[in-house]
Amino acid sequence: MSEGHSTYMPKTGLGRWFDARMPLPRLVYDSFVAYPVPRNLNYFWAFGGILSVMLVAQILTGIVLAMHYVSDTSLAFDSVEKIMRDVNGGWMLRYLHANGASFFFIAVYIHIFRGLYYGSYKAPRELLWILGCIIYLLMMATGFMGYVLPWGQMSFWGATVITGFFSAIPLVGNWIQELLLGGFAVDNPTLNRFFALHYLLPFMIAGVVVLHIWALHVVGQNNPTGIEVKSKTDTVAFTPYATIKDGMAMVVFALVFAYFVFYLPNYLGHPDNYTLADPLKTPAHIVPEWYFLPFYAILRAITFNIGPINSKLGGVLAMFGAIAMLFLVPWLDTSRVRSAVYRPWYKLFFWLFAADAVLLGWLGSQPAEGSYVFMAQMATLFYFAFFLIIMPVLGLIETPRRLPNSITEAVLEKNKGAGSVHPAGASAAPETRG
Ligand code: HEM
Repeated sequence: MSEGHSTYMPKTGLGRWFDARMPLPRLVYDSFVAYPVPRNLNYFWAFGGILSVMLVAQILTGIVLAMHYVSDTSLAFDSVEKIMRDVNGGWMLRYLHANGASFFFIAVYIHIFRGLYYGSYKAPRELLWILGCIIYLLMMATGFMGYVLPWGQMSFWGATVITGFFSAIPLVGNWIQELLLGGFAVDNPTLNRFFALHYLLPFMIAGVVVLHIWALHVVGQNNPTGIEVKSKTDTVAFTPYATIKDGMAMVVFALVFAYFVFYLPNYLGHPDNYTLADPLKTPAHIVPEWYFLPFYAILRAITFNIGPINSKLGGVLAMFGAIAMLFLVPWLDTSRVRSAVYRPWYKLFFWLFAADAVLLGWLGSQPAEGSYVFMAQMATLFYFAFFLIIMPVLGLIETPRRLPNSITEAVLEKNKGAGSVHPAGASAAPETRG
C-alpha cells in the first residue's frame, strides 16, 4: 500500500479474532474499499477490472469445457462437437470461452493503449508495466495453444506454421521446434502438451496478475493528467467511486460480449476450423486469430535477407522484436511529461501508431503477395520507428503544454464552464481518504 497506514476497524468480536490471526478482510478493505484513487480517472481505467473478471470467466468456462473435451487427435474434433450438441449448455460454454478469448484481447489492447497514451509505464511504474508485458506474452501463448485444441484445419495448420518458425533460430531452433511438437510434426503429442499448457498458463497469468496489482498498489494509479497525487483532495476512496464506475463499464462490456456470444458467435472465428484437421490438405490462406494479425503481418513483411540473416529468421526476429519493444517503452520514452494530453506531437504520433497497428492487423489477414507485402513493410518500418526514433527524439525536442499544478486544479479547470455542477470545487470529494 502506498499510504502504508490502515484504517480498518473490525466491528465484531469474530472480526477482531480473525484480524489478529490472518488479516485478510483488512487487506481487502485497504486495497478495494479505503484505497485512495485519483479523482479524475476516466472509463479507460476500468479495463484492469474488466480484465480481472474476464480472466476468472475464462478459467471457469475452461475448466468445465475440459471436463468434456478429449485431447486425442482422433477424438478432439468430435468431442468439441459433442460439447456443442449434447452437453447441457455446452454450446454456451464454448461460445463464452472462444469469444471470451477475443474479448480478453480487446480489453488488453485497450488497457495497453491507455497506458501508452497516458504514459502509465513511466517511473515509478516500470515494473508494473513489465509485469503487464509478461501477462501479455502468457496470454498470447495461451490463446495460440487454445486455438489448436478443437483440431480443425486452422488449428492444425496454424500450429504447423507457427512452430515451423522456431526452426529458423540458429543452433537451437530444431531442438525447440521438436520440443514444442513432441515429435517432427504436429500430432498427438503436440495436442497433449498444448492442452496441458493451455490449462496451466491461465493460472500462471493469475499469479502474475497478483504481482501486477501488488505493484500497482505500491506506486498508486496514474491518471489522465499524468501528475502524481499531491494531497488528499486529489483522491477519492476506491469504494464507492471506482467500484461503481468499474461496475458500470463492466455491464456495458458484458452487453457487447453477450451480443457476440448469442448473435454472432462465429464472427471472430474462421470457418475452416469447422473442418477436421487434415495434414494432407493445406488451406488456401492460413491465418491466425485476429489478435495475432499485426504480428503475423510483421513476420511476413521480411521477405529479404539482411546480411547473414535469412528472410525466415529475419521475420521471426522482427516479430519477437515487435513484442520486445513494449518491454523497453519505459526507457525509450525520454519525455519528462507523462500524459499525451499535454504532449501535442506525441498525441499525433500515438494516433498514427494506433492506425498503423490496425493497418498491420488488416494486412495480416491478406495474402502475403503484391502490394500487400510492400504496405506491410512500410507499416512495419513505422512500427519500429515509433518506438526507436519517435519516442526517444520527441521526448527531447517537444515543448509540452502547461501542466496544471495538481489533479484537483485540472479537474476544477475542466469543470469551470460547467457552472452549477460543483460550484465550490473543494467540496467535490467529501469522502476522500488518504
Ligand atoms: C490479464 C491481464 C491484466 C489484468 C487482469 C490487469 C489488471 C490491472 C488492474 C486491475 C489495474 C488497475 C486498474 C486500471 O488501471 O485499469 C491495472 C493497471 C495497469 N496495468 Fe494491467 N492488467 C493486465 C494486463 C496488462 C498489460 C498487458 C499491461 C501492459 C503491457 C498492463 C499495464 C498496466 C499498467 C501500466 C497499469 C497502471 C495504469 C495506471 O495506473 O495508469 N496490464 N492492470
